[in-house]
Amino acid sequence: MSPDRPVRPELALRPAIHTLPTSRIREISRLGVGLPGVIPLWFGEGDESTPKFITDAAARALAEGRTFYTPNRGIPELRAALAVYMSGLYGRPIGEDRVTVTASGMSAIMLAMQCLMDHTGNIVHVTPLWPNFLGDVTIMGAEPRAVPLGERGGGWVLDLERVFAACDDNTRAVVVNSPSNPTGWMMTNEEQSELLAFCRRRGIWIIADEVYARIVYDRHHAPSFLEVAEPEDLLFVVNSFSKSWSMTGWRLGWLTTPAALGPTLEMMNEYNVAGAATFAQHAGVVAVREGESYVTHLVERYHRARDLVHQRLSGMRRVRMSAPDAAFYAFFAVEGMRDSIAFAREVLFEGKVGLAPGAAFGSTGEGYMRLCFASSNELLSQAMDRIEPLLS
Ligand SMILES: Cc1ncc(COP(=O)(O)O)c(C=O)c1O
Repeated sequence: MSPDRPVRPELALRPAIHTLPTSRIREISRLGVGLPGVIPLWFGEGDESTPKFITDAAARALAEGRTFYTPNRGIPELRAALAVYMSGLYGRPIGEDRVTVTASGMSAIMLAMQCLMDHTGNIVHVTPLWPNFLGDVTIMGAEPRAVPLGERGGGWVLDLERVFAACDDNTRAVVVNSPSNPTGWMMTNEEQSELLAFCRRRGIWIIADEVYARIVYDRHHAPSFLEVAEPEDLLFVVNSFSKSWSMTGWRLGWLTTPAALGPTLEMMNEYNVAGAATFAQHAGVVAVREGESYVTHLVERYHRARDLVHQRLSGMRRVRMSAPDAAFYAFFAVEGMRDSIAFAREVLFEGKVGLAPGAAFGSTGEGYMRLCFASSNELLSQAMDRIEPLLS
């Protein structure tokens, strides 16, 4: 090897970076680029742009010159508004000293991982799971340990004993995403209390991703760890403006943690992003304070979409699914399908519909497909007509 030659840059990275999994959902969506007329139901976002009362607030903030850095844990108005919002939602006081504004739910997850993980630890997670979690675990060099949900009576269930059995002295955290992307499964308050009690005894953290807390059908909000935990419990609750207020592109979220973590998270946010975008935070205040009727509208719309998709899909011979109680995904089993990635390609090229392959959500997801139904009933009906021949 010539000493004068530079090393190939991609080979000079940390070893963990070489093992980063590529997104199976993006793999399929990339194939769809340039294909005319594809109905894209592969990503987890709604088709509505952010409502005007929120964009107006952002425009006002910009016009008023709110274009400077903010405190690293977020502007005081937003932290206070979030504390009031969560205290009202969960019927118990949650102080603003427990709230840290983050530059997205994704960033909140990464901050939690950075606080807890390194190559000496493992993380126990419930699967099928949104794949980005495992990307973060890989970056941190930690070991992921999957505990699969089971299927019973047409619904998803978690056997907590399996979670407990997967934990050992090197377990730093248990990750639970409830309501779940992709299954719509929700953990009950009783299960949350049981997991908390176990983790308290063992000194293990819980990272609870509750970004779909408000996208629930037949109830007001999903059961939350914040309803059953003590303020000092080893708990990171991840939340986001993306789903409840149609703000995916704003990159705004928040973490609720023990207050004692405040100074640490202030530094972590400083060194990662130096605060979420200022105008987005001002818009976030308005979303949280004035957004209840919008959330209700959104959930009613998704409810109708869920019913349509469930009714149509369950009428197709090869499909097995139950109606999800939360989130906006149909995660359905396809009889006779061995390879969900190959099937996603088939659906894309033959049906012109973009779905996410179940394998993207871990090996328990193989045999399933995920369809995001946060779209209009017209578009969903058209998508159903197109995929029916492939699933009957
Ligand atoms: C389970 C889950 N957590 C977190 C996020 C990230 O949300 P954000 O847009 O705030 O980064 C998503 C987005 O799809 C998600 O499905």
